[in-house]
Amino acid sequence: MEAREAIRKRKCVKKYLNKPVSFKILYEVLDCSRWAQTALGAQSWEFIIVRDGPTKVKLSGAADQSWIADAPAVVIMASNLERIEFALKREPQEFAMMEISAAVQNMQVAARSMGIGTCAVFLFDRDIVKSIIKAPKKVVPLAMVPIGYPKEFPENSRAPLSEFLHEKEFSRAPEEEIPSKYNKKWQRSSILHIFS
Ligand SMILES: Cc1cc2nc3c(=O)[nH]c(=O)nc-3n(C[C@H](O)[C@H](O)[C@H](O)COP(=O)(O)O)c2cc1C
Repeated sequence: MEAREAIRKRKCVKKYLNKPVSFKILYEVLDCSRWAQTALGAQSWEFIIVRDGPTKVKLSGAADQSWIADAPAVVIMASNLERIEFALKREPQEFAMMEISAAVQNMQVAARSMGIGTCAVFLFDRDIVKSIIKAPKKVVPLAMVPIGYPKEFPENSRAPLSEFLHEKEFSRAPEEEIPSKYNKKWQRSSILHIFS
């Protein structure tokens, strides 16, 4: 699958087949994470692969999201703040989140291109996860990404590009045809128009 199709077809998957994901595949998708953009080369990522049942249950408890334990593997995406401090000489928190987000997205798109499902989970107790993975002081878990062969890829939908696009100044751009085939189920939402 080529990159643009994988980007458009990436979809949060929470139901997985009972089939392990090989280390080779985990290695491949995390290698794509490592090619994410990085501020001044900080490369602050730390990836922790968790495949054993009891630890996955603990992780799902830290997120209060039981479905996470059913994924064949969960990858903790953590930020090594020391690397950001060294490269950027400034407060690391915002940069840490931006670097992790880019790495997560690369991993998800790579997985989708191989027919494998993921979901980005950012809502969890970081201190609990930190202790589960025995992270050192300056390593902060910011995301966890359950990964596995999907029972199905749910259909994705997004508002048309024209809802987000402006030219020269903040005004609505004309509707474009191109992405429409990806928007079959999209319903106009009042939330999108709060600022218009
Ligand atoms: C900042 C952020 C935090 C998220 N946290 C969670 C989470 O804690 N649990 C979860 O199931 N999904 C989480 N997600 C994934 C969204 O729920 C998912 O993207 C959403 O269901 C839309 O699905 P789609 O991106 O596949 O279209 C998060 C996504 C983002 C961007």
